[in-house]
Amino acid sequence: MQAAATLRRGELVAFPTETVYGLGADATSDSAVAAIFAAKDRPRFNPLIVHVSDISSARAIGRFNATALRLAEQFWPGPLTLVVSRTPNCPISLLASAGLSSIAIRIPSHPTARRLIEAAGRPLAAPSANRSGTLSPTRAEHVRTSLGKHLAMILDDGPVPLGIESTVISCLEEPPRLLRPGSISGEAAASLLERPLRKGPVSDSPETPIAPGQMLSHYAPNARLRLNVDRPRAEEALLAFGADTPRHEGPMLNLSRTGDLVEAAANLFAMLHDLDKSGVAEIAVMPIPHEGLGEAINDRLARAAAPRPALGTPSPQGIG
Ligand code: TXA
Ligand code: MG
Repeated sequence: MQAAATLRRGELVAFPTETVYGLGADATSDSAVAAIFAAKDRPRFNPLIVHVSDISSARAIGRFNATALRLAEQFWPGPLTLVVSRTPNCPISLLASAGLSSIAIRIPSHPTARRLIEAAGRPLAAPSANRSGTLSPTRAEHVRTSLGKHLAMILDDGPVPLGIESTVISCLEEPPRLLRPGSISGEAAASLLERPLRKGPVSDSPETPIAPGQMLSHYAPNARLRLNVDRPRAEEALLAFGADTPRHEGPMLNLSRTGDLVEAAANLFAMLHDLDKSGVAEIAVMPIPHEGLGEAINDRLARAAAPRPALGTPSPQGIG
């Protein structure tokens, strides 16, 4: 299958699912996932849904508690996405999770989607195949108009059967939370689980206290971040960008020596992790141009640099 080979080379392929057309990339490749964000032109890194073809592949990348397993067994394959924790050695790009410790997984029922995932032999990250802020595509021509020039291929298999995105349920909380309604209703999930679901997104505003176990445990490094730094201090680690970097003795990684923002996005979360592991108290980050994917990179860095509540602060909701 040509589309599968194209995906394995790290290029983007749009494909039909039963809900909407997806903009697919190899979910294990940081650079392929970065190409999705570049094509969609999103000012922020929203986490993406990872598509697999069977439950054992799903369990290799996400931790399924009893609730998640119950929902998966009842509704997969089909228009349901489950948010669970990433497994310890999860091979999926951290960028696909937008730096979260959780992952959204779905097994589509559309035969073309299933064949493609199987032929690619790896999980596929796929948001809806439209530019940010436009309607979700239900036909190949919608994809061509919106994203055509960014795509290596569009698998045209006619109009999709459902036309609305999958229901998203987070199993990180108990009871689970309906994050996005879709054609599998919250009631159907609640009746299977014999308890009502929580509803609505969890706010990720830094002002909102987040109970332990809630979803937006955005990956924040243990080290403090200092942004827009031209001269790092000797004791800091340096996250550099571009060819013109200051002399630095301490740990240093470069997001992109050539100043390529797509490459920088691909490296962002993995490099933050690696510098954090070196045990420094502070990571200095060089200025990143505020254009193209630079906007999303700067948004993410600003969140990671924002003051956060001290770890271990008791939460009013108790330990969840
Ligand atoms: O029907 C669909 O779900 C389509 C097809 C292509 O599968 N995909 C789709 O993807 O709608 P996208 O990227 O447009 O929507 C992904 C949704 C977003 O609402 C996102 O916030 C949520 O899933 N999501 C993804 N990962 C998450 C996570 N770790 N925690 C919470 N929400 C997550
Ligand atoms: Mg969408």
